[in-house]
Amino acid sequence: MGHMEMNVLQRAFKGKKVLVTGDTGFKGSWLSLWLHELGAEVCGFALPPETDDSHYSLLKLGTIIRHVDGDIRDLKQVQAIVDGFKPEIMFHLAAQAIVRVSYQEPKRTFDTNVGGSVNILEAVRTSDSLKAVVYITSDKCYKNNEWVWGYRENDPLGGHDPYSASKAAAEMVFAAYHDSFLGSKKNFGIASARAGNVIGGGDWAKNRIIPDCVRSLKEGTPVLIRNPSSTRPWQHVLAPLSGYLTLAAKLLEDPKKFSGSYNFGPRVQSIKTVKELVDRSILAWGKGKSQVSPEANAPHEDGLLHLNCDKAYQCLSWYPLWDFDRTIVETITWYKEVLGGKAAMAKTREQIKSYMEAAG
Ligand SMILES: NC(=O)c1ccc[n+]([C@@H]2O[C@H](COP(=O)([O-])OP(=O)(O)OC[C@H]3O[C@@H](n4cnc5c(N)ncnc54)[C@H](O)[C@@H]3O)[C@@H](O)[C@H]2O)c1
Repeated sequence: MGHMEMNVLQRAFKGKKVLVTGDTGFKGSWLSLWLHELGAEVCGFALPPETDDSHYSLLKLGTIIRHVDGDIRDLKQVQAIVDGFKPEIMFHLAAQAIVRVSYQEPKRTFDTNVGGSVNILEAVRTSDSLKAVVYITSDKCYKNNEWVWGYRENDPLGGHDPYSASKAAAEMVFAAYHDSFLGSKKNFGIASARAGNVIGGGDWAKNRIIPDCVRSLKEGTPVLIRNPSSTRPWQHVLAPLSGYLTLAAKLLEDPKKFSGSYNFGPRVQSIKTVKELVDRSILAWGKGKSQVSPEANAPHEDGLLHLNCDKAYQCLSWYPLWDFDRTIVETITWYKEVLGGKAAMAKTREQIKSYMEAAG
């Protein structure tokens, strides 16, 4: 997100009807609040939040946006929300989003991430209100060669674990709907967005490194690190979200030119080991220690995977605004202040504002 783009976003979303699937989730709750701040009329569609401490619940998001409980695996429900709310813009984020869970529940993962996405695109195909759709998959949609180079949008898709395979399949579904139906739909643009390893306040998912880390720091127990030397490209949740927003704004401006697939990832300097991430988090928290604790019989998780984001920069003028250090500090500060009694709404709003200010 470069300089003038902030105004572009305000112009693009003010007064617009925007449907967000997965608004009760981590990324969806941040995105829905940001859209609300930009003046959009937001409606969310998702399963109810899983816990009382979810970001969605802490924000009391249901009181400031419209939310409908629903299941994307049910075409009738998806069709009803799209035909009933008549959004101009849609962000599709609803998914079974955890790799570990995909080993325990592969069928639910495929049903949601592939079948559910087919239902979304069916409703999109027959909608007469939608002008722009951003369809969120993952960096894990690429066939992972475990090499040092970043993946480009035209690299082969693939996936070892059920989650990654479901996201690769969701991309193939997207391409088929685009090429067969949506590419020729008048005044309409659609793009898939591939981002990964997002961190930020308000994520409490099990088996994700930052939530696990914060739980230990809060309890005063050592932070257990399963794979200390695994490297990941860490980015703050606001970075890919700014990419999704910019992409939707560009799709409204020139739907056919901007339709396609885009990567949103951090700069290469943000590729750090899990140990570096945990140590920096402990520093930001103020006290605590880590302990390497390899897990026996852990399911396979891919090693190094990062994205080449030249296309997002060239076509959308998008780039991440916060470096690794700032990303960790903002994330840990969110948890520390909110656990210390600060209202989540105030903290999340403050961070959205300072991200927008960084954009100029
Ligand atoms: N968090 C990350 O690091 C990351 C990385 C890459 C891609 N993604 C993708 O971004 C999107 C959002 O991820 P997140 O981290 O916010 O996940 P999350 O698990 O916090 O939220 C998932 C959301 O999807 C909804 N959902 C799940 N099954 C549903 C169903 N059958 N019907 C309706 N809604 C359903 C949940 O209710 C929730 O609102 C997902 O598509 C995910 O795969 C996330």
